[in-house]
Amino acid sequence: MKRHQLALPKFLLVAALLLAWNIVVQAQQITSPNKNLVLNFALSSDGTPTYKLNYKNREVIRTSKLGIETKDVASFMNGFEIVKSETNTFNENWAPVWGEEKTIKNNYNELLVTIAQKAVEGRYIRIRFRVFDDGLGFRYEFPSQKNLNYFIIKEERTQFALAGDHKAWWLPGDYDTQEYHTTTSYLSEVRGKMKAAVTPNVSQFPFSPTGVQTPLMMKSRDGLYINLHEAALIEYSCMHLELDDKNYILESRLTPDAKGDKGMMQAPTQSPWRTVIVSDKAADILTSRLVYNLNEPTKFKDVSWIKPVKYIGVWWEMITGKSTWSYTNTDNIQLGKTDYKKLPPNGTHAANTAHVKEYIDFAAEHGFDAVLVEGWNEGWEDWFGKEKDYVFDFVTPYPDFDVVGLQKYAASKGVKIIMHHETSGSVRNYERHLDTAYKFMVKHGYNAVKSGYVGAILPRGEHHYGQYMVNHYLYAIEKAADYKIMVNAHEAIRPTGLARTYPNLIGNEAARGTEYEAFGGNTVDHTTILPFTRLIGGPMDYTPGIFQTRVSAYNPSNNSFIHSTLAHQLALYVTMYSPLQMAADLPETYKKHLDAFQFIKDVAVDWDETKILEAEPGDFITIARKAKGKNEWYIGGITDENVRTSIVNFDFLPAGQKFEAIIYADGKDASYDKNPQSYTIKKMIVTSKSKLSQVMASGGGYAISIKPVGESDKKK
Ligand code: NOJ
Ligand code: CA
Repeated sequence: MKRHQLALPKFLLVAALLLAWNIVVQAQQITSPNKNLVLNFALSSDGTPTYKLNYKNREVIRTSKLGIETKDVASFMNGFEIVKSETNTFNENWAPVWGEEKTIKNNYNELLVTIAQKAVEGRYIRIRFRVFDDGLGFRYEFPSQKNLNYFIIKEERTQFALAGDHKAWWLPGDYDTQEYHTTTSYLSEVRGKMKAAVTPNVSQFPFSPTGVQTPLMMKSRDGLYINLHEAALIEYSCMHLELDDKNYILESRLTPDAKGDKGMMQAPTQSPWRTVIVSDKAADILTSRLVYNLNEPTKFKDVSWIKPVKYIGVWWEMITGKSTWSYTNTDNIQLGKTDYKKLPPNGTHAANTAHVKEYIDFAAEHGFDAVLVEGWNEGWEDWFGKEKDYVFDFVTPYPDFDVVGLQKYAASKGVKIIMHHETSGSVRNYERHLDTAYKFMVKHGYNAVKSGYVGAILPRGEHHYGQYMVNHYLYAIEKAADYKIMVNAHEAIRPTGLARTYPNLIGNEAARGTEYEAFGGNTVDHTTILPFTRLIGGPMDYTPGIFQTRVSAYNPSNNSFIHSTLAHQLALYVTMYSPLQMAADLPETYKKHLDAFQFIKDVAVDWDETKILEAEPGDFITIARKAKGKNEWYIGGITDENVRTSIVNFDFLPAGQKFEAIIYADGKDASYDKNPQSYTIKKMIVTSKSKLSQVMASGGGYAISIKPVGESDKKK
């Protein structure tokens, strides 16, 4: 009997162990709709949530831990049990207000696991996974419950364990800027290259010798393209990635607030989505709309006021140092107390009424929608680097800028003026004036604003990418929508697909833009990388179209030059998707190259279809796009420093129709460093059966407009 009695508990013990083991191996699995991706979720033996992701039976993310470390309450790290797991399937097509195509497919399989911590009175969270044909999104959800209300995040501990020492296109992890060159290296080389990668910036906070930013683009040695980013960054701090360069594990690092905390949370709430886009074709990374799909549809009932914009601006002349934003020369402005009328004009202030009228005339003559005017308002004399609180009021023009007169003039010519709000990082001051500033815009007929956040953030100690600022950027966008205003924010957080929900967010900078070509230069491969990195979350106001490639032509003391050919500058209107496109150079220069300028006039800013013809990050990109609502196509092809021959197969054209193609290409002797302005323009008839082989110079490219025969003769 005794023996028997002993045997039974032993048997039970084994059963219990099996049961426990069952929990451990109780993996939940879902696949992508096309079955190429397989996602597994499991709890490890100490109840830590883990996941892994395979693509066509290859490891993308090895078993990786999930969890959130908290400061004030027990952490969401381990001790979990699976309470419930639900699956779901979703498939819809939706139409973006503007975009690279007229409909976007949103098709995924979902796994929602509810996991509870017995030790914390059964407190529970949910982890939601969505597996698309082009990748994975997942997030943490914190439902409302008795034992969970406020909590402070110490650190998010989401891991992405990679299958090897991938090649990566990376920016130094930084809490305040993304205005860095992209460094291309193996992950194992990040540490060694970090010092050189951290170039100076007015506000910067690199946080670790192996910290990198997202979107992070990688390529495995066996040819898998992997992109890590986040979607729907709302009321949370921006995620960077800390690399364990021995094991190739990336782990989330959130941007701290002024006290060092990483997030003030209150249930019910959730994290942004963590995204993994994957394919064995580089082109699929560029056509992925996974980040938009993970954002909520817009709730705006009326979107008729949101329109893509092609613009010029009183801008490049200040960036190059030819002119100034400031009206006078002093470094002691007390806004509201300083009487500008008593100060001598410096003679270099560009935003003066007569000069702005010249821009308006040029815009009207060449069919542009708008003119951006920077430096129109009081405060620019000492705006920079002083951490002033009350630096601008966003409503008081300089004495030589006639707000009402210019508005009338622009309206009479069918041109809009784009407002400019430089905050100088003084966010407190901006919010103080925001309503008044937007009302001023509405009163004077402005419907779009370019905002900017140069310098350290005030309140002091906050970072550009912390939760406080994430909340501010969205506040400015939502409030703008109340006034039917479109926003293009510079130095703000990099986009995470929020433009789906808030389509008035028509532009962002959040990377090294063309301005750096006048501050020493961008790398030659820069624009062959950005579509794989920065543009994954949304469009960039890159401001292309520089024809005068020597900056010294405008400012003899500035020796910077443009690291591309003129033809490459044209191609960017197609390869760098944005519903907001600038022709950034000066009218005086465009007037000298009206033949090449014709492409900028013709090219669309909104599209029905997009075809990636060729692409490899850091090397080349060729894209064909169909103009929205028109039987017109535009092609842009760019290369890095290497001369390349691009092959275009026109089989995307409707069969049986004849088109006239105008090809704007590098001249025979062109190269970005020796002869960047050399270009040729030729016309040919093409059909869906045509093929073209086009040489691109070093730092070069080409652009093609394709219209039904007869169309291009019609006057624009
Ligand atoms: C930086 C922006 O990126 C640039 O476009 C702007 O001209 C300056 N700030 C001044 O606001
Ligand atoms: Ca900038």
